[in-house]
Amino acid sequence: MSEDDAKRRLRLVRPGEEPPVSATSPPPSSHQGMPFPYPPGIFANLFDLTGKTALIVGGGGGLSRAIACAMADFGARIAIADMNLANAETTAAACDRPGADAMAAMLDVTDPDMVEDVVAQIEAQTGGIDILLNGAGITIRKPAIDFTPEDWMAVINTNLSGVFYVTQAVGRGMLQRGYGRILSIGSVSSLLGHPENQPYAAAKGGIAIMTKSFATEWAPYGVTINAIGPAYTQTELTRNILADPHVQSKLVSRIPTGRFGLPEDLVGAAVFLCSESARFVNGQTLYIDGGLTAD
Ligand SMILES: NC(=O)c1ccc[n+]([C@@H]2O[C@H](COP(=O)([O-])OP(=O)(O)OC[C@H]3O[C@@H](n4cnc5c(N)ncnc54)[C@H](O)[C@@H]3O)[C@@H](O)[C@H]2O)c1
Repeated sequence: MSEDDAKRRLRLVRPGEEPPVSATSPPPSSHQGMPFPYPPGIFANLFDLTGKTALIVGGGGGLSRAIACAMADFGARIAIADMNLANAETTAAACDRPGADAMAAMLDVTDPDMVEDVVAQIEAQTGGIDILLNGAGITIRKPAIDFTPEDWMAVINTNLSGVFYVTQAVGRGMLQRGYGRILSIGSVSSLLGHPENQPYAAAKGGIAIMTKSFATEWAPYGVTINAIGPAYTQTELTRNILADPHVQSKLVSRIPTGRFGLPEDLVGAAVFLCSESARFVNGQTLYIDGGLTAD
């Protein structure tokens, strides 16, 4: 490289000085978004959720509780719905931030009539749900040959049918208003096989592909839908399995970052996917797993 070339590459633009016109910066047009150069601060509020109402289903649980508090931190109004009303109320109280105005409701996601009722009540009270987090879930683990039809139905009804019922009920209003961000909690089990886990794996695999199917249908109405896939994270759901030191060290050894997840590890991705910054992200499952599924 000649000295002149090197100087050209290193040319510094001082504040106030006109930047050089680059051959790679196209002139602004209606198809190319914002005019360049971008004014300072133009991207500063991309993650702001002020003025949005977020319904956090399963918000009495460990992962959804952290996500609810994070969304409140970014300005969202919060409604928590959970089968366990006391835990939903605890989360609502923990979301106490200016504008969060948090409320709690009892909801069984396996009951489609109750889902319609509770969603209608929250919509009436808030003026409309803009963000939905599907975070309710249960697990039953046993050798494959021991699962009963009741076990199968319980896990599928809660973890897969429940996500469909709530998404459908909340989506109805979003489609009418022309805006919505929906996020479901899948799992690394959406992608990886684990023993003694067939109903849960079927439900979580179902979430990943159902997310894509909703995404392709609802995008023209301003509604995006994505999923996150956490790895093993210490909550009530995993308390028993992670209590066994042998299982613990075996599972942790498969995670490149060398530790289990924490509920707080999910909140940045959840806020991102439910904010304006993710407006062109649709139908994806983002694995938040310390690299487990990269291995
Ligand atoms: N903890 C993990 O390691 C992990 C990993 C991957 C995915 N997930 C998923 O994350 C989600 C949240 O799990 P968590 O770890 O916070 O567990 P958690 O047990 O702490 O929370 C689950 C919540 O779902 C609620 N719930 C259960 N059945 C319900 C129903 N029928 N209707 C309404 N609410 C119901 C429970 O009351 C509870 O508050 C689940 O979908 C789970 O499958 C968890």
